Amino acid sequence: MTNVLSAVAWPYANGPRHIGHVAGFGVPSDVFSRYMRMAGHDVLMVSGTDEHGTPILVQAEQEGLTPQALADRYNRVITEDLQGLGLSYDLFTRTTTANHYSVVQEMFRTVHRNGYMVARKGMGAISPSTGRTLPDRYVEGTCPICGYDGARGDQCDNCGNQLDAIELKNPRSRINGETPVFVETEHFYLDLPALSEALGSWLQTRAATGRWRPNVLNFSQNLLEDLKPRAMTRDIDWGIPVPLAGWEDNPAKRLYVWFDAVIGYLSASVEWARRSGDDDAWRRWWTDPSAESYYFMGKDNITFHSQIWPAELLAYDGRGARGGEPGTFGNLNLPTEVVASEFLTMEGKQFSSSRGVVIYVRDVLARYQPDALRYFISAAGPENNDSDFTWQEFATRATSELVAGWGNLVNRTASLIAKNVGEIPAAGELTDADRALLQTTRAGFATVGELIEHHRQRAGLGEAMRVVGEVNKYLTDQEPWKIKNSDPERMRTVLHVTAQAVSDCRTLLSPYLPHSAQKVHEAFGGSGTVSPLPELREVTDLDDGRPYPILTGDYRRGQTLPAWGSHPIVPGTKVEPPTPIFTKLDVAAVVEEELERLKR
Ligand code: MF3
Ligand code: ZN
Repeated sequence: MTNVLSAVAWPYANGPRHIGHVAGFGVPSDVFSRYMRMAGHDVLMVSGTDEHGTPILVQAEQEGLTPQALADRYNRVITEDLQGLGLSYDLFTRTTTANHYSVVQEMFRTVHRNGYMVARKGMGAISPSTGRTLPDRYVEGTCPICGYDGARGDQCDNCGNQLDAIELKNPRSRINGETPVFVETEHFYLDLPALSEALGSWLQTRAATGRWRPNVLNFSQNLLEDLKPRAMTRDIDWGIPVPLAGWEDNPAKRLYVWFDAVIGYLSASVEWARRSGDDDAWRRWWTDPSAESYYFMGKDNITFHSQIWPAELLAYDGRGARGGEPGTFGNLNLPTEVVASEFLTMEGKQFSSSRGVVIYVRDVLARYQPDALRYFISAAGPENNDSDFTWQEFATRATSELVAGWGNLVNRTASLIAKNVGEIPAAGELTDADRALLQTTRAGFATVGELIEHHRQRAGLGEAMRVVGEVNKYLTDQEPWKIKNSDPERMRTVLHVTAQAVSDCRTLLSPYLPHSAQKVHEAFGGSGTVSPLPELREVTDLDDGRPYPILTGDYRRGQTLPAWGSHPIVPGTKVEPPTPIFTKLDVAAVVEEELERLKR
């Protein structure tokens, strides 16, 4: 048993999330966490909404709201959507809690005291017409490295390099096109060069595991090539104050949103512990060296998780070239693995809310079953390659795989049992075919479990569905309905074996399809929770009393059948005629209707 931290990327609270987002961080982290819990590990899965920085400010201005009011609005929308998808967060919180502020400030103070946060004067852009500072990402120009013309002042999306706005050729404001002027400004820089050796040895230990996805590892190793100090404060009035005399009361200087957001993994763990009544419970995942931590995100977040966050942790622990001592949290663990996914496109195009190429999680959940979306993401999502969402594929997979494959097996089995026996029958003597089938479903646990543990969820699902196919074939071959009168004993045995195999498949699929796993369990007369769902709870801030919603749940103790493996079915359990668990879709109609909607 290992203490496993599932650290899930924090969505910006600047709008509703689309399916590209949840395909990157949401469903994969949940499948992994659910499986790891069933495999006996003590999982803590945390995240929340990311509520600082320019993205929030800009959207607040557009909606005519204060940044906090905007964050409040979308924090709730996002929390509800993630609940609808069944994502089993132990805590889904937000970055505007007093707890987060205090954990972030403790990190900053210690990193500063250890000598890794250095003040430096540099040049910052301001808008000549308004006199206000122009954040880096609102300056656009030509990349000095690759020559791409749409580079931003914080990074070039074409070559992936981090930039300073002042390095851009032909800089212009993305807000009104004017040429920014650069004035001197002072910021705190995280001294990455002083941490480069420590970062390098940490990454080497990670490479040695052979577990990281090659793309993620290569990208992370390349980042080490050219480490420069990186600004961790901004000229902006929305964010966490810099906790140092002379800076604290300056309303125009705030910590950089990424400095604070990644600390959310730690602050959310602390908040979870405080809410659990054991303030120190978070330490099992952070200061116990045997704990493991897995970070889930889209590939655009890799830099922050395989470089900035480990650098913050090493600096906090005092493990860089300048030495130092950890602060009040003690020595904090570095990531075990950064699990980044590739990008999802939609009908061949990049998601874009402004151009209407978008499908929000909320809208999918309003019209389709959450497990249908989870199935698509797990079977065809951007696990190792960019992948494309099309309504055609979504509806086809839901219909021919979920409904016709798995749903049909469940229905056929439950109705045969309900009609011919009325309860789970006991088995008589088993034939070779019976034993072979049960052997197949049991073997699935090792195979599928191993694939999920290694973040090969697509292959894991494929394997589980192959087992479902074997069970379907067995039932078709055995034709128990033909021997009701001639050999009722054999019919009962076949139905017993099928029901056991269906129960095994249900367990195999439950990390992927938690909503339907619960329904399948109930269709065979089961009681209790086999597949717990997150609960949305209205709470108040632990320190300042402001209300907000969180997601949480009792995923460990709520399960009556918690373990990953085959559980013997109980003969005599009443089985009623089933109602179909998956909704059959008319593929052509779905495609037509949805593509029509996209044009609006
Ligand atoms: N808000 C960022 C994004 O949507 C992700 C932040 S992940 C964090 O790209 F945890 F590191 F904050
Ligand atoms: Zn470039």
